[in-house]
Amino acid sequence: MTKQVLILPGDGVGAEVSAEAERVLRAAAGDGLEISRGLIGGAAIDSCGEPLPAETLSAAKKADAVFLGAVGAPQYDSLPAAKRPERGLLSLRAGMGVFANLRPARCYPQLAGASSLRAELVSGLDILIVRELTGGIYFGEPRGIAARKNGGERRAFNTMEYRESEIERVARAAFFAARGRGGRVCSVDKANVLEVSALWREVVGLVGGDFPDVALSHLYVDNAAMQLATAPKQFDVILTGNLFGDILSDAAAALTGSIGMLPSASLGESGRGLFEPVHGSAPDIAGKNIANPFAAILSAAMTLRHSLKDEKNAARIEDAVEKTIAGGLRTADLGGGASCSQAGDAVLENLNP
Ligand code: IPM
Ligand code: MG
Repeated sequence: MTKQVLILPGDGVGAEVSAEAERVLRAAAGDGLEISRGLIGGAAIDSCGEPLPAETLSAAKKADAVFLGAVGAPQYDSLPAAKRPERGLLSLRAGMGVFANLRPARCYPQLAGASSLRAELVSGLDILIVRELTGGIYFGEPRGIAARKNGGERRAFNTMEYRESEIERVARAAFFAARGRGGRVCSVDKANVLEVSALWREVVGLVGGDFPDVALSHLYVDNAAMQLATAPKQFDVILTGNLFGDILSDAAAALTGSIGMLPSASLGESGRGLFEPVHGSAPDIAGKNIANPFAAILSAAMTLRHSLKDEKNAARIEDAVEKTIAGGLRTADLGGGASCSQAGDAVLENLNP
């Protein structure tokens, strides 16, 4: 049966890395894919004034999988949060109901030298961050900037809120993922200060009761950041909320050598998912054909694995990326001179040796 994939290149390097991911996806999956394209982020603002056009959201809800490049560009920096390109991505995540964001961080031994840590601390690192993606302080109400009253100062506020059901479903996703890996979940919160974290910890503990085969531990987020920066190999699956997951996943990315290496999958109750590299639109290098496409290509592999149920070709892509790295190809972020398209070419060659 033909599977539908919607590609949303977005802004900045999003277009370049999506093009390489699309070539690899087509080559790996063959004829069984129908690929269409849509607008999101600044590209959508320029064409129709909104970061997530209704047409894009409805196409995303019909597709079997959505692949996104990146959103954001400096020319929109002065817009209020609700009108920025990033809001397109946040509304897409919410609209698709993809609450479980899987962010694997692996350090290929050959890239350990590019890590911010000593090679022996990161070589072979293989952790999975499971970040709650459609709740928490990113979406909580009320939010806003209150107008100045009587010449006083302004006040801005956001709300960090989690319902039990939101915590429970993402916790289940993390425990299931741990079953297929190292069998350990470390839940990260700030339960010594925040009520929302106290509830988080309690609900995660209850869900853990259904997974006696998975070892559960808890860390405060400040300590978790320190542990990631000093002894990251102690972790298997890290389960956390939206904001803490955003921060910790960038920190984890630095350990692997480059944020240009990290893919992600965002999943909901159905098999449909949203797949995107963890890196952003990198406006400083956009349009130069020097971005690292591996994160996007590895996100294409996750598309096959999680939404298109094609484990064989997902693994083939991952093997091809591994071979490409082992063969010595390095893009600029990894200290090399290979272009974005040369990196894509090399993966294609290794896919069909
Ligand atoms: C990410 C990004 C996004 C986020 C931005 C672009 C809205 O940083 O996917 O990690 O904060 O979730
Ligand atoms: Mg982020």
